[in-house]
Amino acid sequence: MTIAHEGRLLFGGDYNPEQWPEEVWADDARLMKEAGVTSVTVGVFAWARIEPRPGAREFGWLDRLLDLLHAHGIGVVLATPTASPPPWLGRLHPETLPRDEDGRTVWWGSRQQFAHSSAVYRRHAAAITEDLAVRYGRHPALRMWHINNEYCTFDYGDEAARAFRDWLRAKYDTLDALNAAWGTAFWSQHVETWEDVIPPRRAQYLRNPAQLLDFRRFTSDALMECYVAERDLVRRHSPAHIPVTTNFMPLWVGQDAWAWAAQEDVVSVDVYPDPRDPLGGQYNAMIADMTRSQARGPWMLMEQAAGPVNWRGVNHPKPAGLNRLWSLQAVARGADAVCYFQWRQSRQGAEKFHSGMLGHAGEEGRSFAEVKRIGAELAQLSSEVTGTQVPSQIAVLHDWHSWWAGTQDGRPSTRVVYEDVVRAWHRALWEAHLTADFAHPEHDLSAYEVVVVPQLYLLTDAAVENLVAYVRGGGTLVCGFFTGTADADDRVRPGGMDARLRELFGIRTVHEWWPLEDRETVDCGEFAGTLWSEELTAAPGVEVVAAYRGGDLDGLPAVLRRGRAWYLSTLPEPPALRSLLANVAAGADVRPPLSGLPAGVEAVRRGGLLFLLHHGRGDVTVTLPDGTAYRDVLSGAAHTGSVTLGRFGVAVLAREARGHGAA
Ligand code: GAL
Repeated sequence: MTIAHEGRLLFGGDYNPEQWPEEVWADDARLMKEAGVTSVTVGVFAWARIEPRPGAREFGWLDRLLDLLHAHGIGVVLATPTASPPPWLGRLHPETLPRDEDGRTVWWGSRQQFAHSSAVYRRHAAAITEDLAVRYGRHPALRMWHINNEYCTFDYGDEAARAFRDWLRAKYDTLDALNAAWGTAFWSQHVETWEDVIPPRRAQYLRNPAQLLDFRRFTSDALMECYVAERDLVRRHSPAHIPVTTNFMPLWVGQDAWAWAAQEDVVSVDVYPDPRDPLGGQYNAMIADMTRSQARGPWMLMEQAAGPVNWRGVNHPKPAGLNRLWSLQAVARGADAVCYFQWRQSRQGAEKFHSGMLGHAGEEGRSFAEVKRIGAELAQLSSEVTGTQVPSQIAVLHDWHSWWAGTQDGRPSTRVVYEDVVRAWHRALWEAHLTADFAHPEHDLSAYEVVVVPQLYLLTDAAVENLVAYVRGGGTLVCGFFTGTADADDRVRPGGMDARLRELFGIRTVHEWWPLEDRETVDCGEFAGTLWSEELTAAPGVEVVAAYRGGDLDGLPAVLRRGRAWYLSTLPEPPALRSLLANVAAGADVRPPLSGLPAGVEAVRRGGLLFLLHHGRGDVTVTLPDGTAYRDVLSGAAHTGSVTLGRFGVAVLAREARGHGAA
């Protein structure tokens, strides 16, 4: 389903008019028009405003608001308000409040205090969702449904325990199967009746890893059931072309976003890099690549900040130009919607120091001027990019189940943080100017020339076979350490690594894992390894690309290669990983969009355009291919030979008419 409306990229933000007197709304609508806002997300936290008492329905204000927005040509992404039930729900029905691992109640007073498996919560959420859908499903301002907000809650309470048992019964059928999968012979954990099965609540010492893994799976599924129930209700009362989404947190551990994305019409995500992070642009790129891959095409940047957030220790504003750069970067990497939290900065409540598109400084503010510029430029770009794809010949494999299994207590090293490892590999590709998709290890990978695996501790049999078939079919695979260690139940594979993978990479024996201390490195000859090392012996005839030097692993393989299958038993320092991946990619005939790109300049192709995004502050000159004339779609400037980008500069280049094909 399309995200863009009438060919326009969406531009807007969360709008919480319930926090403002109605006189302000007219001003909002005027300024939204001025800023080029196409749509706003309304109602995310408005449950108490709509239903101040059980069963009440106060829709008058929402009627007036939607009509006002519509009269100004501003569309509405209408949210179901079910992320934040009103206090009365918890007071009258305490079972709707989640419990933490210690059995303590999570009270109202903030947000998201709902127990996902509570029948009463689900009934109330369904009722308000259905009434909203009946009333506004055919409103002319409606562009999209937004269900709940950043589903992320855990619940260890009694109703969740019952739902967990039902989920396990459906999965295992018998207690024998559950006991086998959970390895309950260990520490006398055998469960004799279903009542013995509980969520992984506070316990004396390390808890059962397979139970923890299944509880994560269950929680993701239980939250998804809440989403699907509301999705089906809003669909029933809306025209078929109105898409439904729910906003993900970026690379968030709690949701299997591959599974969730399959249930969405539009995949959307909230992204808040730290403006001081020198690799903030890389972080954006990684989340964009992941979300685009989940969407299998255009995606929606549902939330970003125009300036500072309010939830870091120190909350930095965005220096002039950074908001624009990161917004255009999202479009370059496939977004058809660029939106913010939130339109107008709150004066009260926990987020009064979180920026808005319209900050406390108002329409005179520097940041609002930049917002207006972004709105105008997105309108300019719309006809060239909406609905178009971002081509990539590389895939990075990522899987939540492996993340869940690989990050529990009692493993070789707590220093290995999965998301950091993924980020290190993506960074290497980004710095090598190579555009990558993400993929699930069981996806069809045949469209990619190169597949990289930062770390997949847990691999199902189907995934292992998929990787083997991919290499046999001519693909190039580069695989990071501690991969293929466990099966789907988190049972260690015989030999410490799946035998089919050992065969694929030419690993004869995995003797021991040798994790490293913080800041410790291992000498691998040409480069230093970090985080981890492995005591491996290679099968005869296998190429040892790099070997450990000195120390306990002296002479053993650090990087080995059998044909097109590479295995890295450590994490090379950033420049080394970058050049290794750049060389492997070049060997597979995969190259950056332009040669000789300077550091800090991101180059991405989307549709027929070439985006050049400069993440640095000085001037930089990018050499363009000889004899090709380009036009900057935003500035109208013509470029041949080279283009110079200033601080946070962006060029969006199209080949001049006389050229052939895409930029
Ligand atoms: C998001 C959330 C928004 C707002 C924002 C602040 O996680 O969806 O409602 O709280 O963070 O950065």
